[in-house]
Amino acid sequence: MNKVVEIKKPNNTFLQGNFAPVDEEHDAECTDVIGEIPQGLNGAFLRIGSNPVFVKDIEKYHWFDGDGMIHEVHFEDGKATYHNRYVETKGLKAELEAGKALWGGLNSMPDFNNPLGFYKNAANTAMVFHNNKLLALWEGGNPTEVTLTDLATVGEVDFDGELKHAFTAHPKVDVETGEMISFGYNMMVPPYLSYYVVNKDGVMTNNIDIDLPKGVMMHDCAITANHTIFLDMPVTGDLEEAMKGGPALRWDPDNGARIGVIPRHGAPEDVRWFDVSIGFVFHTVNGYEEGDEVVLEACRSPKTNVVGADPDTKADSNDTPYLYEWRLNMKTGEVKERFLDKEWGSEFPRINDNYAGRKHQYAYCARISNDASSAGMFNGLIKYDRANETSEHVDFGPGRYGGEAIFAPRDGGTAEDDGFVICFVWDENEETSECVVVDASNFSAGPVARIKMPGRVPYGFHAAWVSAEGIASQA
Ligand SMILES: [Fe+2]
Repeated sequence: MNKVVEIKKPNNTFLQGNFAPVDEEHDAECTDVIGEIPQGLNGAFLRIGSNPVFVKDIEKYHWFDGDGMIHEVHFEDGKATYHNRYVETKGLKAELEAGKALWGGLNSMPDFNNPLGFYKNAANTAMVFHNNKLLALWEGGNPTEVTLTDLATVGEVDFDGELKHAFTAHPKVDVETGEMISFGYNMMVPPYLSYYVVNKDGVMTNNIDIDLPKGVMMHDCAITANHTIFLDMPVTGDLEEAMKGGPALRWDPDNGARIGVIPRHGAPEDVRWFDVSIGFVFHTVNGYEEGDEVVLEACRSPKTNVVGADPDTKADSNDTPYLYEWRLNMKTGEVKERFLDKEWGSEFPRINDNYAGRKHQYAYCARISNDASSAGMFNGLIKYDRANETSEHVDFGPGRYGGEAIFAPRDGGTAEDDGFVICFVWDENEETSECVVVDASNFSAGPVARIKMPGRVPYGFHAAWVSAEGIASQA
């Protein structure tokens, strides 16, 4: 498929520079490498993002609206190949057939008459590999299955018809039980929160609805070995405004902020809610249990203006997230919360995924620039060592910006940080994209390999790693 967004002079940041979509699909060996690709790195580094084919209203286009495109760097025996493909969703297929955009997006009136949904399921946000399948995720609709390494779209999955509501872009996989723990939210109409557990064979074993005072935007969750953690934060749905084509979300501090903890296989009435300081969380780092406490780490900002939720927001640092911790005492109900870093803002936190739900030592985050000329851009990476309360940084250099990095374990590695931290970097000076590989156990030494990409890789959302064994396990 080779479609071009016909935009001459887009008056929209999300269609300019390295946010702009690409229209070529590549399959190419990566031969231009600074440094050396490690031999012990075998599998697929994946990064998904928004890459619109058609745009209905250029001024109203939001970054979250574009069609999903997956960029893959496949590592094998010290070599890398690059592939990128659109996720060929039902919505994109319908638009290609019509030859035009059929949905307006988050800043436009929902399309209440479209049989494929009020909004397009763009499958553009994140990916999860579970039960030997790769799923491309969008939090308003069903997951879309994609195969590796060809990135061919299989289609939407609904877990044998059991999935009736939305499915988050951020499910968690417990490597010890093989379960995928997930949820869906609806900001406008009940049920506001649905909670799912899918077993290692892909069977949905738990599917319950949980009451919330109001519909809220709930982007992520966390798990511990025995519990699931929900975030009821004050970005509420505004159906009235949405019906008029206004912002569907509202920064609503009167709603309060709460963290909910439910036993993994619990019932709706088993949720315990803990009041916490007003703030907003897009992404959690991890959860775990320690004594009587359930511990949650996340990147938290004091407020947010996501999709115009807070029109009164000023261009200050209130939207900047910092690493943060909550300790919720399940016996006494006490909450302790604190910043884990006050100096550097960060987002897109990741851990060694084998530690999901268990106490981790290391977290890897995209570092937010605090330089006025590049404010808000991700100008480096931070490795947090939680046991020693220290951090190490990788600086991408002037005019070089990245996004989410993942941790890929080294073949046969057993230590938590025995592996590689991988992300895409855009070099504004040379106008080239690189896949940057850092040895996680020698982090501040910087990249061991900078792999030049055969095409531009636009800024995007979330990344994933699928090992060579995972790729081979696909049915
Ligand atoms: Fe996300």
